[in-house]
Amino acid sequence: MKPYVICHMLGSVDGRIKQDIWGFKDHHKYFEETAAQIEADAWLVGRVTMQEFSSKQQYSLAPAEKTIPKEDFVADQPVKSFAVVIDPSGKCFWDTNMVSTEHVIEVLTEKVPDGYLEHLRSKNVSYLFGGKEELDLDLVLQKLYSLFGIRTVRIDGGGHVNGSFLKAGLIDEFSLVLAPVADGTIGSPTVFEAEAGYGNRRATHFKIKSVEQIYGDFLWIRYLVVKENNQDR
Ligand SMILES: NC(=O)c1ccc[n+]([C@@H]2O[C@H](COP(=O)([O-])OP(=O)(O)OC[C@H]3O[C@@H](n4cnc5c(N)ncnc54)[C@H](OP(=O)(O)O)[C@@H]3O)[C@@H](O)[C@H]2O)c1
Repeated sequence: MKPYVICHMLGSVDGRIKQDIWGFKDHHKYFEETAAQIEADAWLVGRVTMQEFSSKQQYSLAPAEKTIPKEDFVADQPVKSFAVVIDPSGKCFWDTNMVSTEHVIEVLTEKVPDGYLEHLRSKNVSYLFGGKEELDLDLVLQKLYSLFGIRTVRIDGGGHVNGSFLKAGLIDEFSLVLAPVADGTIGSPTVFEAEAGYGNRRATHFKIKSVEQIYGDFLWIRYLVVKENNQDR
């Protein structure tokens, strides 16, 4: 069993997601107020995005005092809402096991050093292994369901994490807050960064679930992912 997956993003009309030159005063609210209206047990982000929330301190990892088995760790903690980070090499450090009101879950590969696991345990941060060298995102979702009881997860970016779930066919809904701006920055991450070149992939198709005009000239478009093989129109 796996959670239902809703990807939620704020994007410019050209699909860019970094707001550096957009010039909005209340730039956080467009994303956060809409996200808060999506019911979910957890939000999940990529390592780059989570480093905006994790510790700004430099922790140096001492060699581990003992070998720590590469087994999932569910910390004893009171809350039932979660902040999940896809962090295959263990690059996020933590002063606490919470982001706001959510308990942190680190998604790792087995290549992380024992010293990093010691760091997570010292802060009572939960972690799970999604693969030896590379992540199996389907397995990651199954573990979020079975270990933490997560039934709906909201993927909040950035573009690389969205792209890898999209490529694996694991997104059920896409919620886009479309900002009335053209960004035009070549090379800046877009809503979905799946792969360079076309390869053998087919684009993912959507069906509209709802559309709403919000904050004046923004659109909030909610799509269902079309899962059938034959997507020709
Ligand atoms: N507009 C919005 O709604 C919105 C929302 C969220 C974020 N953002 C912005 O987006 C930017 C970051 O986006 P981003 O695309 O550069 O980064 P990201 O998706 O936040 O993080 C990418 C990193 O996550 C890890 N990762 C993701 N998928 C993986 C997979 N399948 N297997 C292994 N590792 C995986 C890798 O970490 P390692 O490099 O450690 O291997 C990868 O480099 C930030 O500027 C942030 O502010 C905007």
